[in-house]
Amino acid sequence: MPKLLLSLLSMKKASYTVTAALPYANGPLHLGHVAGVYLPADIFVRFLRMNEHDVVFICGSDEHGAAITLRAKKDGLTPKDIVDKYHGIIKGAFEKFDISFDIFHRTSSELHHETSSDFFKKLHDQGKFIEETSEQYYDEEYQQFLADRYITGDCPKCQSTGAYGDQCEKCGSDLSPTDLINPKSTLSGKTPVLRSTSHWYLPMDQHETWLKKWIQNGILDGVQQHDPKLWRNQVIGQCMSWINGGLRPRAMTRDLDWGVKVPLPNADGKVLYVWLDAPIGYISATKQWALDNGKDWRNYWTKAEAGDRKLVHFIGKDNIVFHAIIFPILLKDHGDFILPDNVPAYEFLNLEGDKFSTSRNWAVWLHEYLEAYPDKIDELKYVLSAIAPESKDSEFTWKEFQTRVNSELADIYGNFVNRTLVLTHKYYEGIVPSPLAFSAEDQAVFEAIEQAPRRISELMYAYKIREAQTEMMQIARIGNKYLADQEPWKVNKTDPERVQTILYVALQITANLQIATQIFLPATAQKLGKMLNAENLSWSSFGSSTLLAAGHQIGEAHILFTKIEDELVQSEVEKLQASNQLKSPYPAMKDLINFDDFSKMDLRMGKILSAEKVEKADKLLKLQVHTGIDERTIVSGIAAHYSPEEIIGKTVLVLLNLAPRKIRGIESQGMILMAENAEGALSFLASEKDFGEGPTVA
Ligand code: 2FM
Ligand code: ZN
Repeated sequence: MPKLLLSLLSMKKASYTVTAALPYANGPLHLGHVAGVYLPADIFVRFLRMNEHDVVFICGSDEHGAAITLRAKKDGLTPKDIVDKYHGIIKGAFEKFDISFDIFHRTSSELHHETSSDFFKKLHDQGKFIEETSEQYYDEEYQQFLADRYITGDCPKCQSTGAYGDQCEKCGSDLSPTDLINPKSTLSGKTPVLRSTSHWYLPMDQHETWLKKWIQNGILDGVQQHDPKLWRNQVIGQCMSWINGGLRPRAMTRDLDWGVKVPLPNADGKVLYVWLDAPIGYISATKQWALDNGKDWRNYWTKAEAGDRKLVHFIGKDNIVFHAIIFPILLKDHGDFILPDNVPAYEFLNLEGDKFSTSRNWAVWLHEYLEAYPDKIDELKYVLSAIAPESKDSEFTWKEFQTRVNSELADIYGNFVNRTLVLTHKYYEGIVPSPLAFSAEDQAVFEAIEQAPRRISELMYAYKIREAQTEMMQIARIGNKYLADQEPWKVNKTDPERVQTILYVALQITANLQIATQIFLPATAQKLGKMLNAENLSWSSFGSSTLLAAGHQIGEAHILFTKIEDELVQSEVEKLQASNQLKSPYPAMKDLINFDDFSKMDLRMGKILSAEKVEKADKLLKLQVHTGIDERTIVSGIAAHYSPEEIIGKTVLVLLNLAPRKIRGIESQGMILMAENAEGALSFLASEKDFGEGPTVA
């Protein structure tokens, strides 16, 4: 045996701890979550299992933090009601969708509270935190300190509104509540006051040096831990931009009553920061799984020879720094644990030209899809993997769903398999025929199939799961083309012996396709395995041209994929639009304009100097407005809402360069801008402070 092959065979296979981001139990899952975390993680794990790695696949509900408590407040329920409800919905959807977690745990469990509490205590006792008292924002009405999502304001870095106390979602900056400009409590909407409180901080600034080396070069304590070339650019990029911007100490505790209690004296009313407790949830879930299955959880988390034990976190891009900076610091500080070997992070999936939005109900919910189309699970898996946002944001549309199912799964994969099996039944009563001499085309096909396992493996180990699925489809394409070129249905009339070889070859391709499919589309693989009467084809035999021996009896042929009708596409798009509009009493957004369009408008603050009713027009007021550069007449349709006396002296927003128009014989030179609510009530758009007349809108 060649030396290299021998050493490869004797190489110990690494064990893997694969985690998928714990979803917040504050709402159901949509297709964006599935495409950008759970499905690729599941495919990766199925690949590892087939390759005989020892794997544990971990997930569960993230049941603490402001995401839960704010949702509970909004719904008038307790946090416990919320997590119980959504934990059930999410877990049920994962089971139906056949995501093969070894455990789907929850962070409200006793074991998790104990595990995260011990973890914190150990770090505390080793002096890894700094206790500090400082002034923090406090909502006097709700008697609560405001951290994270409890406080919003303008971002000091990019100036956009709606930044949170922990992060600006627009520019990705890491923030503290005290960084926010114009802070407001999300509970009362009021400006908070400052009060003193003490917390335990993780001095992240002290970890910059080793983090840089570990993230950029994969080296930790002088040992090569992972191959940084296998980390996605956006993961390294986001981490380095955080680190180069200077890491700051981050509080690991919060003043809240929902969460894991801080296990120290004098810490009443304090819980662990959710981003401390949630990733430890991966460890507590592994512990629970080990208890249930007679395993030792340490074999999946504690240090081993570099490369022997790998920890992999599948996440969305908004979770990068928590998994590639904060959790690694905690794991390293703890001392016993391995650090992640990779953090494959996904970009976002959009839906029909817009972002997924829970509040606008612009979403396809996984549990609803499964209920409506229980026989189309692999179709969804296939399409979501084909469009997975691996390196950039991507988009799901029902039209593309239909196209991919019909022209790829049905017309290529399904057509090839069906023709092969039906002809085998028709000509040979379902018995694999004996091949005669293989032609050059037959040999070429065998050679292409032989390459498939190596190509798929390389892509999978490089986390290029989308491309790996394309390689699976390539097997079906090769088979479909082979049959179309060879035309056994025609050859049978002139050279029936040659057909034996053609179908033998086609059946070997089908069997290989079945093996590749086990990773991506498990339900289809199972059906196909049954149809081939070969349900235990293993990865080690993948690539072989003798998977089904001559004389083997195959099973019944069935259609694998039915086509998606236009009606389904239409009704799903309509449903989406209807629920989107239902949620909002306001019209949908108008078409986009560019900046030049916007800058054509001359908007200014103006002061109403006088106002009078227009004769025989109930709705109109004639206004004299000072605009800062002139005084002009504007006729406005607000008489039903305001009396002339009420509005004299008001500073209002004016569109100055609207072409003049005669209204009831009066020339109106501009327009007063107003907001109208769903009930038709009006409100002036005024400046927040006395700004005088004339300022332009920029
Ligand atoms: O962003 C989220 O949905 C978080 N619940 C992910 C947590 S991942 C882990 F750390 F638990
Ligand atoms: Zn910002």
